[in-house]
Formats: sequence, structure tokens, C-alpha cells
Amino acid sequence: MDAGLKTISIGMLGAGVVGSQVARLLQSDRQELSDRSGALLVLKRVGVRSNTPREGIDAAMVTSDLHSIVTDPEINIVIEVMGGIEPARTLILEAIKNKKSVITANKALLATHGHELFNAADAAKVDLYYEAAVAGAIPIIRSMRESLAGDQITRVMGIVNGTTNYILTKMHEEGREFADVLKEAQTLGYAEADPTADIEGFDAAAKAALLASLAFHSTVTIDEVYCEGISKISIADINAAKAMNAVIKLLAIAEITVKDEISVRVHPVMLPHSHPLASVRDAFNAIYVESEAAGELMFYGRGAGGAPTASAILGDLVAVTRHRAYSTVGYGESDYADLDIAPMSEVKSQFFVRLHVADISGVLASIAQTFASEGISIQTVRQAGIGKDAELIVVTHSATEAALTSCLNKLESMEIVTKVESAIRVEGAVS
Ligand code: HSE
Repeated sequence: MDAGLKTISIGMLGAGVVGSQVARLLQSDRQELSDRSGALLVLKRVGVRSNTPREGIDAAMVTSDLHSIVTDPEINIVIEVMGGIEPARTLILEAIKNKKSVITANKALLATHGHELFNAADAAKVDLYYEAAVAGAIPIIRSMRESLAGDQITRVMGIVNGTTNYILTKMHEEGREFADVLKEAQTLGYAEADPTADIEGFDAAAKAALLASLAFHSTVTIDEVYCEGISKISIADINAAKAMNAVIKLLAIAEITVKDEISVRVHPVMLPHSHPLASVRDAFNAIYVESEAAGELMFYGRGAGGAPTASAILGDLVAVTRHRAYSTVGYGESDYADLDIAPMSEVKSQFFVRLHVADISGVLASIAQTFASEGISIQTVRQAGIGKDAELIVVTHSATEAALTSCLNKLESMEIVTKVESAIRVEGAVS
């Protein structure tokens, strides 16, 4: 190790699953990190909310006084892995004010207060990097911000939540119901004790906001993301997908509309097996990007877990340290395009609709007429079962959300319809 190298002191906020791996790798890969960044990277202080001993972290550097880390004049870079909105927001703003570059994995915070934080970093001329905030180890932020900066991205579709992908994979492959697999995911530690943020899509929505902001050079916040989770997906839906050579995935989608607005949403999607995202199994993540010149790109890897997330953080750390060597910062967030968000009611998709109906003559014609009354054209209709309660599966051609909602309301009120069981958006050539 070069004794003449400058020392860069790091303060870390949080020492959980990710923080402890950052601390471990900073120690075990010390030489490589120093060779690559041109500085000695030294973890100086670790801030935790409860002052319990942390394995692999020297107790002498641990403090519960988080504020003392972000104001410590000797600390150059702050890594925030504590999560949550407050006190993370206030601590990061304070660190920036004190001229420290910040690396964060906090998607919820950036998707809510990103504009304020990036502006503060710009004004203070420090870096605010967040590769770990979207899809863990997958280098999607840097790819979109730098490698694709010369292209026009038209659409981003991602499996960005491992817990829900694990649950949907098990439902599909083992024929088990949602609640049963969720329990297993909690036992295995994939799903949190309170799994709401994962299964209702909020975690994916924060990531969708960050991806949409980057892709379309605009500020998109989590409250602008339409969000539907997977808790209503039944084994009957999964089986219907299987019968159509398709799978159901929870996707985060950001795309540019014909009106040059951003459509950004999270919801289950039926995908044909032939789609590259359909083969992403278990807790893995993947992001599929379409752009004008590059065409289609796919990024795949581990979206969560201590070491994979720490990999992204350390990549940011090396980048930020390199900038410091030249007294510079990376290019900040680009929001010059300032595009509007498309209303969800105008978004167009194909739909899969599963409903139970009375199996008598004329029913199919009435159902078809109801779709037609909303201007929705039908691609295929399948009937499963006969008798008092037959199941109909309708796949539509592309229709707006508004037309589909209105059609579903009409179907619900028809005497021949026992129940509209589900409506799932369809992507690609499912029939
Ligand atoms: N809970 C997330 C997931 C990881 O299941 O993918 C952190 O965003």
C-alpha cells in the first residue's frame, strides 16, 4: 500500500445487513479499493440508532450520535444505509452542507425528496450517488445516466422487487397460493415482517420513479407512480397464464407516450415466455431498456442482500473518491426535459379479463357487446368449464384504462355475470 496516498475518511449511517457488508468489504478489499481509487479508504465512524455491538465493526467507531458523523470535519464521504425518510433526509442535507459527498441506498427518500437533495448536492458541489437504490447489484443507474446519455430511451420495464418475484415464481412453478408462499418468503428472510411495501408495490414504485426520472430527464416522485401489487393474484390467474404460455410478473414500467408524457406505473403483467423478462426467476431482478439507437438491452442480477447491495455502494465509493482526487464531482441529475406525467386513465394496454358467467345461449354475445360498447376489441375468448358457473377468459386488443374500467363496471352489473375475477394487463404476444 502506498504510504503517500491521501486518506479518505468515511462515515456510515446504519450498520444492518448492507452496512455490515460494506464494512467487511472495505476491510477485506482494502488494497484493491485503494489501488482503484487512488486513496486510502478508511471507515472512521459508524452511526447506529441502538448502540448494540455489531459483528465485524470495531466498537470504538460505533456511535448513536448520528449528527456527529455528518458534521465531523475529518469525514469526507458519508454512506447512508439506514433507510426511511427521517432522520435520513436531515442527516444527508447536513452532510452535504458540510461538503461531504454522499452515497445512499435509500430509494424511498430519493423518490420523495430527490429534487431537494440533488439540488443541495449541486449547490454544495459534492456528489450524491445512489447506484444501490435500484435493483441492488445491477449497475442500472450508471448505465442510464452515463452509458445511455447519448441515446433516447423510450421504455424501461423492470422486475425490481425480489420478494414479489420470488412469490410469483413459486406460485407458478409449485402451484401454491399467494398467502402460503408469502409465509415461506418471510421465514426465509426475503419478505419483511411487514411485507406491505413489497407486495403492494410501493418498493417497486420508488424504484420506478428513479428509473423514470433518469430515463426521461425529468423529476418523477413516488406519488406520481400508479401502483398495484400482487396480493390479488390467485392461482387461477397463474394457471390461466400458464395455459397461454405466459407468466405473471410484477413490473415497474416507465415509458414515453405519443403525447410526449411519461407513463410510470407498477402492476402485475402477463408476459409471454418468449419475453426476456419472463425467464427472470426467484428473487432475481432484471431491467429491460428500449432506446432508439441501442435497441433492446437487458440488465440482470441480484436486487437485494448485503453483499450485492454493498457491491453497488463500493462502486460509487470508488467513483466519488476518484472525483475527489481531481477536486471535481460527477454530472448531477438531469431534469431539463421536465415532462408531464400521463394520466393513468389514458394509458393503453392489452388486458386479460377472467370472469364467471352463466353458461346459457346468448351470454357470449352479450359479453362481447359490452366490450364493444366501450370500443374494446377482443383478441381471443376461451371458455373453461360448463354449467351454471362457466369461466370465460377474454384477451383484448389494446384499450385505455378508462375504457377497461368502464367495461368492467358494466360487466359487474350484468345479471349473467357471477363475478369479474380479475383483470391483468398483458404485454407482448399472449393469446
Ligand atoms: N425488499 C426489496 C426486494 C429489496 O424484495 O427486492 C430492497 O429494495
